[in-house]
Amino acid sequence: MKLILGIESSCDETGVALYHSERGLLAHMLHTQVAMHSEYGGVVPELASRDHIRHVLPLIRTTVHKAGCQLQDVDAIAYTQGPGLSGALLVGASIACALAYALDVPAIGIHHLEGHLLSPLLSDPAPGFPFVALLVSGGHTQLMRVDGVGKYILLGETLDDAAGEAFDKSAKLLGLGYPGGPELAKLATRGEPGRFMLPRPMQHSGDLDFSFSGLKTAVLTLTRQHELAEQSMDAQTRADIAHAAQEAIVDVLTSKALSALKQTGLKQLVVAGGVGANKRLRTQLDQEANKRGFRVFYPDLEFCTDNGAMIAFAAALRLQQQEARRDYRFNVKPRWDLQQINTAT
Ligand code: KG4
Ligand code: ZN
Repeated sequence: MKLILGIESSCDETGVALYHSERGLLAHMLHTQVAMHSEYGGVVPELASRDHIRHVLPLIRTTVHKAGCQLQDVDAIAYTQGPGLSGALLVGASIACALAYALDVPAIGIHHLEGHLLSPLLSDPAPGFPFVALLVSGGHTQLMRVDGVGKYILLGETLDDAAGEAFDKSAKLLGLGYPGGPELAKLATRGEPGRFMLPRPMQHSGDLDFSFSGLKTAVLTLTRQHELAEQSMDAQTRADIAHAAQEAIVDVLTSKALSALKQTGLKQLVVAGGVGANKRLRTQLDQEANKRGFRVFYPDLEFCTDNGAMIAFAAALRLQQQEARRDYRFNVKPRWDLQQINTAT
């Protein structure tokens, strides 16, 4: 199983990649639906599915061409089986299984979070096992202990909103577009440090769980107060609130990640998922980790958010340890606990 075609379609990004077990990543392409959903202020699942249908085959064709290969060279096809939006997942799963059947090669369903979790291994330098992973995306906020491929132990997770959701919802309250994370981060650079102080929920709870829904309420209260007092909020106040919201999220993520390293006795932290693209989070994690002799690894920016490369890569690692099956029946798993895919030891 050398050449793997990976297809990601769990949410609002169609990602396709070709990964070769000896030559590495040969090509990858992404079509983002951001412009289409931004009109609605968030992802519209039915529109997402239809858009995946429109783009997945042309994207496969271009990616194969870019890699200088032919579809017939592909040894296995990997797709995101879950978690995610069911309609969107079904597009990737059905295309992958149909193509695999036509080419007489195995098809393999991959857990989206396993893709994110292993994506820093695509970068150079890459961490070695074991490590602690901070998974921060639009739907998940988890700390995992990773002892190898298929060896994942959940250390803590959010009890309500994900970190990406906290970014997105705060951004929406500040009148920013979707997805709010990068927009809020941009606005925060113009904010005055220390003007507002927002709560750091569960920072000192003594465990490794998170909670972000209170933060969203605090941002809502603050924006309302200013809107009422000033009719509409001035640009500097919006930037100051954005700054305070980002600081609160980054502080909580940093302190919990450091606690996880301390508790496990591990020295390497891997940050994965869309929020891992946040510059402020990267700077603060690096600073605090360096002080304590820890090392932090990030995927390249293009592999932080959803992409096909992480799916092809995770499949390449999986296929080193599990049988490749020519079974073209498929189902998708919109909700799927990562620990369910652990390999027996
Ligand atoms: O991993 P991802 O692409 O999709 C999911 O699997 O959810 O993560 C998307 C999330 C969104 O909430 C988005 O606002 C956030 O990642 N995000 C960021 C940044 N870039 C993406 N949040 C903060 N700062 C960023 N630079
Ligand atoms: Zn994701």
